[in-house]
Amino acid sequence: MPKIYYFNTIDSTNDYIKRNQSKLEDRSIVVSKIQTKGRGRSNHKWNSDEGNLYFSMLVKKGIQTDFEDIVDVSVSLVKLLESYGINADIKYPNDILVNGKKIAGILIEKIYSDKLFEVIGIGLNVNQIDFGDLNPIATSIKQVVGKNFVLHDVLHDYINIYKDNHKIEEYIKKSIILGKDIMYLDEEYRVETIENDGKLVLVKDDYSIKVSLNEITLKEFYK
Ligand code: BTN
Repeated sequence: MPKIYYFNTIDSTNDYIKRNQSKLEDRSIVVSKIQTKGRGRSNHKWNSDEGNLYFSMLVKKGIQTDFEDIVDVSVSLVKLLESYGINADIKYPNDILVNGKKIAGILIEKIYSDKLFEVIGIGLNVNQIDFGDLNPIATSIKQVVGKNFVLHDVLHDYINIYKDNHKIEEYIKKSIILGKDIMYLDEEYRVETIENDGKLVLVKDDYSIKVSLNEITLKEFYK
């Protein structure tokens, strides 16, 4: 079991690890009841009121590519939710949805100080039932299952599932982008599959191309 550091309030569990990585062991986990400066991807704020899980893991050894991490964490979250009777989907690249609403987000940061290390941050909505303005797009385990969960137990369940091997095939099976039509350079393509490096394979008529996430915009597709 990795070392787990518990906080009541912290700015951001990712930032705490970044500041303290030299004192923390590989695979340490930092979890906080509240984050005052919770961060999402693309500089978004991650609302972090009490009731949900906010945690980050430090990886010093065995650093993988971002997409390998995304596969491991996304598939683990899907399996965790499945173990609670919830059917979740993956919104490529790394959002977890239930009934089309976001239940979890992942923020992976690679940092180079004297050595390369990485921080994998996860926000999982557990007991929150009112998301205010975000109600149309956010959900939680409690909203779906109808009862409260003990955060500590959910974290331990996640850690147990995460330590197993997870396969890209499992990620692909749960990805809602598969088979969808998306625009690339003003042409419509169908998403055929996802490669090990995270590139999408797009097909049109009798040819296929591979594109990376930064070459396409998924905004319209996901609206
Ligand atoms: C996203 O979907 O934009 C990613 C959200 C990641 C939020 C988690 S909560 C724990 C960790 N600490 C942070 O400041 N962010 C991540």
